[in-house]
Amino acid sequence: MTNLTASAPWQALNQLANQLEGQHMRDWFRADPQRVARYSATACGIEVDFSKNRINDSVMTALYELADHCTVEAKRDAMFSGEMINTTEGRAVLHTALRNFSGDAVIVDGEDVMPQVRSTLSKMREFTDTLLNGKMLGYTGKPLSHVVAIGIGGSFLGPKIISEALKPYHNDSVRVHFVANVDGCHIRDVLKSLDHEETLVLMSSKSFTTQETLQNTQTAKDWFMQQGGAQKDIAQHFACVSSNVTAAKEFGINPDNVFPMWDWVGGRYSLWSAIGLPIALCLGFNAFEQLLKGAFAMDEHFKSAPKHENLPFILALLGVWYRNFQGAQSHVLLPYYHYLRGFPAYVQQLDMESNGKQVTQSGKSINCATGPIIWGSEGTNGQHSFHQLIHQSSTLIPADFLLPLRVDSNDLNAAQHHAMLASNCFGQTQALMQGKSYDECLADLSATQYSEKERMRIAAHKTMPGNKPSNTLTFERLDPFTLGAIVALYEHKVFVQGAIWDVNSFDQWGVELGKVLGNQVLDGIGGKKDLGEFDASTARLIERFVHAQQSDDSH
Ligand code: F6P
Repeated sequence: MTNLTASAPWQALNQLANQLEGQHMRDWFRADPQRVARYSATACGIEVDFSKNRINDSVMTALYELADHCTVEAKRDAMFSGEMINTTEGRAVLHTALRNFSGDAVIVDGEDVMPQVRSTLSKMREFTDTLLNGKMLGYTGKPLSHVVAIGIGGSFLGPKIISEALKPYHNDSVRVHFVANVDGCHIRDVLKSLDHEETLVLMSSKSFTTQETLQNTQTAKDWFMQQGGAQKDIAQHFACVSSNVTAAKEFGINPDNVFPMWDWVGGRYSLWSAIGLPIALCLGFNAFEQLLKGAFAMDEHFKSAPKHENLPFILALLGVWYRNFQGAQSHVLLPYYHYLRGFPAYVQQLDMESNGKQVTQSGKSINCATGPIIWGSEGTNGQHSFHQLIHQSSTLIPADFLLPLRVDSNDLNAAQHHAMLASNCFGQTQALMQGKSYDECLADLSATQYSEKERMRIAAHKTMPGNKPSNTLTFERLDPFTLGAIVALYEHKVFVQGAIWDVNSFDQWGVELGKVLGNQVLDGIGGKKDLGEFDASTARLIERFVHAQQSDDSH
């Protein structure tokens, strides 16, 4: 691929950005009643209104041409067909195989992986049904009714956030408790409320080497033994999901309770694998399967829809437009649905661990911005904290709003609550787009007692520039199928952007150094490593920590 920033589409987008300077979306809406129809697209029950963006037909055409220049569709087809596109780890990228209901084979290293995918799903279904039917008994004969799901990163975020988002679909026979942080209070707060005789510990770690997960699992094992369990009872109370099946067995986990995963599934793309077992345990396996089917539907859409109707392409290209041609550093996710409050954190890992890179596939430095900072939280809460900056600062922050149009609830005032939620969501997108001009603010103050000079000063403070972009994603309700489609939509958005920037979206070398140095500091704290081997700051910090453990001033 010729140099990205020297390409014709890239140059055209630079010129278009200059041309649009000074233009305002509210004028485009006034001039073109068909704007919404032209800049909306629907797939898998998700309607994306992208009309409140700083775009016109020329911009979208140039963005689609940029995707063509970067051969994104060919790269997409290479991913689905199992090519080794994760070039630094020599792996295929096939989280899509985990939800492949086409009946087609998926070949990795000459072997069709679908039989093992299907057998693992069958094993998950059987495990889930046994547990939820109260037929999985502990060593004292009690049915297991609490699950402590231990994992971190992609082995935690997907299971926890997806389960949380689908709370209305939870069964009430088993409670799943998630533990991730190595901070001891996390697992302590979970274990202190549980009866070990009724508890199953499910450890998820693709590598089976992650320090936090190993420590938390060891603590859970020590707790289990302290409460009266014996080594022989571990087999009935511990299960594991890992690609390192040998290590799991060496830990003492019953081989029947070890669920495999594969190196062609990246951690942040793994909720569709047995890593998603906690989701099935919360919802029942049929609902988990619906999640997979929603993602499969989005896969089929991504593979087949023309770019101008292709939701992943549209969201990705708009993100490139703001990141590379409008100076945006971040992208905010605003789910207007309490149960989706974790979604920004999920997409944070998905996007930032995939595209937070600065070298191309060939190892050359990249001469343009890449992955944005992803952040956000649920509406309407954000309106009472950070929305001020999005509305009135000079920092451009494109936003995605997500809203289920219906919540199936007969709870007290449910309809009124939901109407207020939706009105706030839509009102925010409108305020971001149209703003409030200085003259409008000045006119509002005309009846006040302020002097003309003071009215002008106050009006300047009240002016809302508007022209702030947002996408609004609406869907009938947040059921498992729809959520699966939404997650796959963002996975493929990340893929398209990585393909345009020519980064490897599927490795994560940037997290390795911190892990190595953290272990060395642990040795320093434990006196196994001389402090002289650390920089002065780290050595001082270690000294302070060690001293604090020795001081006897208990509060
Ligand atoms: O953050 C680095 C990382 O490797 C993530 O990519 C991964 O999801 C997480 O740590 C947990 O890894 P594992 O599942 O191997 O314990």
